[in-house]
Amino acid sequence: MKTLSLLKILVALVGSAVCGVAGMAQTAANGTARAKEHPIPRIVEKDGRYALLVDSAPYLMLGAQSNNSSDWPATLDKVWPAIEYLHANTLETPIYWEQFEPEPGKFDYSQVDLILKQAREHHAHLVLLWFGTWKNGSQHYMPEWMKVKPEIYTHVTNKNGELVDSPSPFAQAALEADKRAFTAFMKHLKEVDGERTVLMVQVENETGTWGAMRDYSPEAEKLFAGPVPAEVLKAMGKGDAGAASWREAFGAEADVDFHAWAVAKYVGEIAAAGKAAYPLPLYVNAALRDPFKGAPGSYESGGPTDNVLPIWKAEAPAIDVLAPDIYLPETASYLKVLELYRRADNPLFVPETMGSSRTLARFMFSALGLQAIGYSPFGLDLTRALPVRPGENESPLSFLDATAENYKLIGPMMRDVARLNFEGKLQATAEVEGEPTQTLHFGDWDAVISYGTGRRGGTAKGNAEPQGRVLVAQLRENQFLVAGYFCRVDFRPAGSEAQRKAGQIVNGTGQEPSAQIDGKWVHRQFLRVEEGTYVDGEFKFARILNGDQTDWGLGLGAEPVVVRVSVGTY
Ligand code: DGJ
Repeated sequence: MKTLSLLKILVALVGSAVCGVAGMAQTAANGTARAKEHPIPRIVEKDGRYALLVDSAPYLMLGAQSNNSSDWPATLDKVWPAIEYLHANTLETPIYWEQFEPEPGKFDYSQVDLILKQAREHHAHLVLLWFGTWKNGSQHYMPEWMKVKPEIYTHVTNKNGELVDSPSPFAQAALEADKRAFTAFMKHLKEVDGERTVLMVQVENETGTWGAMRDYSPEAEKLFAGPVPAEVLKAMGKGDAGAASWREAFGAEADVDFHAWAVAKYVGEIAAAGKAAYPLPLYVNAALRDPFKGAPGSYESGGPTDNVLPIWKAEAPAIDVLAPDIYLPETASYLKVLELYRRADNPLFVPETMGSSRTLARFMFSALGLQAIGYSPFGLDLTRALPVRPGENESPLSFLDATAENYKLIGPMMRDVARLNFEGKLQATAEVEGEPTQTLHFGDWDAVISYGTGRRGGTAKGNAEPQGRVLVAQLRENQFLVAGYFCRVDFRPAGSEAQRKAGQIVNGTGQEPSAQIDGKWVHRQFLRVEEGTYVDGEFKFARILNGDQTDWGLGLGAEPVVVRVSVGTY
């Protein structure tokens, strides 16, 4: 990926600063008038697949989350150059309770207005993160007037009776204060965002507690000894347990289940109040547990970790999505988390992850393969990316390259990708170590993906680093759209479903575009392979690929290439 010269970056930074002049006062009337043109974004489900509808059509958020302290007038000019360089269509950025409500009941809307104004100037959408009661398990974003009164806005008490750095979900005063502030924020958004710049709102940030599995205060102890609410038992598949206590019902998981119930109830109440003011899609992000061996005590307890998703669904129905923050670089763990959060009752959305290398950025395609509605690596702004060492030549933007590569390819075709995915016609995958070929099944055709085949017809060995990624969508029975990097794609006749069921299909080496069907060899031929680009959301033909460009399948390298291919048999 090409890097910008230092001069270009300076121009971008200065330009952004000029655009970033604060002070837009958009009226409620203005917002209401525009609402007619722009319906409120919403999440819909059909046949077990989800889509985020923006302007009434499926939309894919190609996001970037800013660093935690970047949403200030002083720092936004270090955010936009990164968003532009990335070709991101959505910025995820916080709204800080401490800034929003500097005095009890007095709300400061200036930062909300500023970020809306700047997003519109940069033709970007926003996902706003409500840093309220919880931020990474602590109450660090509560306004100062609350922090100085821990006796009112109480902390979690651990097993030894000590206060920990985490808000108690039983602190009624904090709940009321957060509800009031969040509702004011959502009400304001409704008034000023008829353009629907904001697509979704995150309620709190990584809720839960580090350093204690739950609150052990006298009040909490009483509840813990009492019966588990019926809706929790039902959600957790223990509907027959009767009036069981938490320990009886959940054994070693009782403490974390109890805390999840308490936190989900608290957040659910805030979300319901905010949604009543303005029904935008809402989500909660999770600090994960190890998806293979996450024993209680080894992770942040209380948030929507995979083991307590049903509790969150039952207690916080105003939350549309429970979303994983994925900071697990190992392939097996990453893929497992995606699988755990893409559920019949939950769309997949990755609001935070790592994207600083191609190996990590490839997972965006794994998420697309599970119909993700959005993907957003964390920390993609220039507040920390400033020159490394004096005299060093590397572009301060180069850490964005791997994600930019994805967004450059998918950005122009994002509406088609989201629609085809919602319709169940798209599959996507990323390279997995030790699996040099993968097969995607499309009715009478299999798409065979090979990694590390070399330039001509070599055997797939896998790339030196796993960085291959691809999406394939079926446009017609024999026509496919293909886009990706660092792999080769071919198509193999798959026979009919009846023939497959009867075991009448024999594939050769696995990489060959031919199969033995009912004892006879059937070979794929390319009828027409078109290379093109997406312009204004539509595929525009550029040239026909043939000869060396197709004789060994469709080779996808480091360039953002989109191919539309028709296949037949002989
Ligand atoms: C996850 C949190 O949600 C983010 O706000 C941030 O703190 C990252 N971890 C790590 O920097």
